[in-house]
Amino acid sequence: MSAAKKTKLDIEPKSDPEVEEDSENTFRHAETIHKEKLQALGIMSASLAHEINNPLNYSLLGLELLKQEGREMLASEFEGVLSDVEDGLLRIKHIVQDLKVYSRKQPESGEKEEFMVSDVIAASIRLISASSHNIQIITTLDTPYRVKGDPSSIIQVVLNLLTNSVDSINRKNASQPGKIDIIGKQSGDWYEIEVVDNGEGVDGETIRKMFTPFFTTKGANKGTGLGMGICREIIENHKGQIDIDSKVGAWTAVTFSLPMAPNH
Ligand SMILES: Nc1ncnc2c1ncn2[C@@H]1O[C@H](COP(=O)(O)OP(=O)(O)OP(=O)(O)O)[C@@H](O)[C@H]1O
Ligand SMILES: [Mg+2]
Repeated sequence: MSAAKKTKLDIEPKSDPEVEEDSENTFRHAETIHKEKLQALGIMSASLAHEINNPLNYSLLGLELLKQEGREMLASEFEGVLSDVEDGLLRIKHIVQDLKVYSRKQPESGEKEEFMVSDVIAASIRLISASSHNIQIITTLDTPYRVKGDPSSIIQVVLNLLTNSVDSINRKNASQPGKIDIIGKQSGDWYEIEVVDNGEGVDGETIRKMFTPFFTTKGANKGTGLGMGICREIIENHKGQIDIDSKVGAWTAVTFSLPMAPNH
């Protein structure tokens, strides 16, 4: 086992032989990663309930309108209300689908599947949108972008990064609007995804500590300090890399790579 591996989320002392140790650590890591995911779901649940309630209410209002006044409406008016109802129901359907994918447990076999980067990014943005009002999130991906991995874990990574960016933008309290860019491009056998925010930025000392479990600057009730460590664990499980760059008071960029699918 490499020295780097020992500094990850493996924070409990152990005395078993190496082989048992490895399988046990893998298990413990998987449990830690899943626990963090459930915790994030708990935190998001109130805003997600709100996010579902809005389209649900306007879909119900639309249906009520059609029931009461539909017969007297012009065909174009009728279709307009019907399409609002459909939009609302589709938004709810997407959120429920995203939640289903996100809350899935990592397959114990570590088996990876092929998926579109655009799908997991869109799902992550939908899940964060309830907590990121007034922040513009722009996605720019080049093609092809079919990668190999565990989509649920990659949503977890993108959500963790977006959550950090949103927190940082809110902490900065700047006059300029908050903005997050998600940029994806192919680099040989890898697909690189960069999440850049115009938040408060971090200094070199913080960058060095960022992946350390329980390192947080958010105070006891806000952050557990596990987010970045989990991101690195997941990306390294995919044999990829994760790096941070930043300018204090201006921006932070986190870049991670995923293996391209063989027939992208
Ligand atoms: N985009 C960012 N901009 C500014 N600071 C950041 C950013 N991402 C991470 N950090 C800093 O790194 C620290 C560690 O991040 P990490 O995601 O591991 O934990 P957390 O966000 O504090 O808590 P958790 O993610 O467990 O809720 C943060 O507390 C913050 O100080
Ligand atoms: Mg975090």
